[in-house]
Amino acid sequence: MKISLAPLQGYTDWVFRQAYQKNIGGIDEFYTPFLVLQNDGIVKTAHKREVEPYKDRCTDLIPQFLCGSSEELSFFETYFAELGYNKMNWNMGCPYPMVTKKGKGSGLLPNPDKVEEILKSTFHNKLELSVKLRLGLGDDSEVDSILPILKGYNISEVILHPRIGKQLYKGKVNLNRFNDLYEKYGSYLGYNGDVCCKEDFDKIKSLFPDLQHVMIGRGLLKDYWLPHKIKGIDLPDSDKRRNQLKNMHNDIFKLYSSYLQGDSQIMQKMKPFWEYFSSHFENDKKVFKAIKKSAGIKKYEQAVEFAFSQQLKLD
Ligand SMILES: Cc1cc2nc3c(=O)[nH]c(=O)nc-3n(C[C@H](O)[C@H](O)[C@H](O)COP(=O)(O)O)c2cc1C
Repeated sequence: MKISLAPLQGYTDWVFRQAYQKNIGGIDEFYTPFLVLQNDGIVKTAHKREVEPYKDRCTDLIPQFLCGSSEELSFFETYFAELGYNKMNWNMGCPYPMVTKKGKGSGLLPNPDKVEEILKSTFHNKLELSVKLRLGLGDDSEVDSILPILKGYNISEVILHPRIGKQLYKGKVNLNRFNDLYEKYGSYLGYNGDVCCKEDFDKIKSLFPDLQHVMIGRGLLKDYWLPHKIKGIDLPDSDKRRNQLKNMHNDIFKLYSSYLQGDSQIMQKMKPFWEYFSSHFENDKKVFKAIKKSAGIKKYEQAVEFAFSQQLKLD
């Protein structure tokens, strides 16, 4: 069973992934948040940093892209192959209207013909291509027409988040619909959605015993040792965990400081990081509030000190 880290734009960037791998570990495969090809035909620097330089980024990394046309698929296939990657992942799940209105992300799901046209005219199998998708944009049966096309074009794996785009992240994951598809496609499907603790994982595993891949996003950001718990790896004691968290934080801070300009840019990255990181502490709301209202690096450092003076949540 493979446990991967879901891409979360703004949270699981290269800085986070690098620090996590160094200080905690337990994830078998990482996905970049989606890269986009801009109208001017280039990839912006922040997105390039996710995959370049290859020698510093490549470990267990699958680059992800948004795409709604043959040109975009062709571009990303060449770009990633030239950098040295041998796998890539097409995002057909993003639910945000800014993306879906352009026929990208889950905006592709009502258009199986479009998906087929893109694959038919462009995909050269230079790289192993997987797809991450939802059940549909507005209707949970849209996926039924998409999956046979993906299978037919040699897509290696489909990671399914069983919600529809219109739901965003609201409501429950639709395990009945996942089950229908699992009965047909078995371990061709990977599972993603709302696995926040070992019990959630055990439930998914017992419902779908042939699964070979579970992708975890927010659950991992709130509990860095969730992969350890899932895999039955011994957990470090409280002191060691505190140190690992401290090192993780300090590495992230250092990496951002190494290329961002000025305190406010650094703070713009560190504050969202604490939205989830604070979950590791008792009094998490108080911890996050202290971080959020700190103005300037000095005050931020005091808030960090306050956070690390709190008990850790240990379970
Ligand atoms: C803030 C945020 C950013 C996300 N960014 C991406 C992304 O770049 N690419 C992607 O495929 N999914 C993205 N997702 C969806 C997640 O990868 C995942 O499918 C979703 O959070 C459900 O899994 P989870 O319950 O384990 O978090 C994002 C989700 C959130 C909440």
